Amino acid sequence: MSAQAAISHDAAMRLAVEHADLVKGATYPNPPVGAVILDREGRVVGVGGTGPAGSAHAEVVALRRAGNLATGGTAVVTLEPCNHHGKTPPCVDALLDAGIATVVYAVADPNPLAAGGAARLAAAGVRVVDNVEADLVATGPLREWLHKQRTGLPHVTWKYATSIDGRSAAADGSSQWITSEAARADLHRRRAAADAIVVGTGTVLADDPTLTARLADGTLADRQPLRVVVGKREIPSEANVLNDDSHTMVIRTHDPAEVLKALSDRTDVLLEGGPTVAGAFLRAGAIDRILAYVAPILLGGPITAVDDVGVPSIARALKWRFDGVERVGPDLLLSLVPR
Ligand SMILES: NC(=O)c1ccc[n+]([C@@H]2O[C@H](COP(=O)([O-])OP(=O)(O)OC[C@H]3O[C@@H](n4cnc5c(N)ncnc54)[C@H](OP(=O)(O)O)[C@@H]3O)[C@@H](O)[C@H]2O)c1
Repeated sequence: MSAQAAISHDAAMRLAVEHADLVKGATYPNPPVGAVILDREGRVVGVGGTGPAGSAHAEVVALRRAGNLATGGTAVVTLEPCNHHGKTPPCVDALLDAGIATVVYAVADPNPLAAGGAARLAAAGVRVVDNVEADLVATGPLREWLHKQRTGLPHVTWKYATSIDGRSAAADGSSQWITSEAARADLHRRRAAADAIVVGTGTVLADDPTLTARLADGTLADRQPLRVVVGKREIPSEANVLNDDSHTMVIRTHDPAEVLKALSDRTDVLLEGGPTVAGAFLRAGAIDRILAYVAPILLGGPITAVDDVGVPSIARALKWRFDGVERVGPDLLLSLVPR
């Protein structure tokens, strides 16, 4: 593979992020990393993302594609190259063997087992540049994995669809569909990259959702998240959420901490429940990101996106900050993180 023009480290990192996004959800328990190899002239000669567990890391995938053109070139990687023998040899060895002269990365590896790659490369005479497009990576493909490394808990995104007046269903309980096909397609892409989708029994009983990740033509995506139903009521055996399209876990609790404990081997959890479960998770401080798909419709009525969140007065409002606003078809997608 060869491209015509030399590109900057920043541009190469953005390309690495695109490749990390492509493998997001398919690398567990490894982080979804992207890598780009530039030849001596700064032209792209190899790209890659982390393979499934036990197979090659991103650097190795990209180096293989670059072949001899990597010699004297630059490796641009979203995460500091690893320095430990896991199921595969250290990426640092592969970079040194390939004769890479410069390594550029975005985020340092917080995992003490794998860290130290940058120092070893520098000691071997490789020029090392860190912190390139670090925010883009830390809030993008590595967001959930970094959270898990920091806290030991899965990262929880509360996703909901709402009318402009904050309603998540019409007065009769119907909510399919508040948002556009484009918004739903966007959500299905996120589901395919997630490890689990959580709802309460109320949503299963009201909407009978399948909770799968589907492609635009309605067929199932290759990868399906675990479906998780939280609550004490029985759900009917013929409920769509129990079909064969994916696995399903039923957790008979009302305690968000117990749900997170049951999902402690997961990294990226989407909470798609109704107002009751969303309120419980918000009260427990168990939500790390909000994704609100906002449709330009008004519904009025009693069914709000979230129930009681334990706020008695305006001074005690739960404070969040917008970290992204996108248009998705006719709708808006608002992304928020705790302030
Ligand atoms: N627009 C959207 O994005 C969206 C998404 C989902 C749902 N909805 C709408 O929301 C409505 C359903 O709302 P919902 O609130 O019933 O759904 P829900 O929050 O998904 O489920 C509520 C049920 O979950 C169980 N539960 C789990 N943890 C709980 C806790 N900490 N506290 C209390 N109960 C807990 C309870 O059932 P048990 O009695 O079984 O324990 C409770 O009745 C429907 O109209 C649906 O269309 C909209």
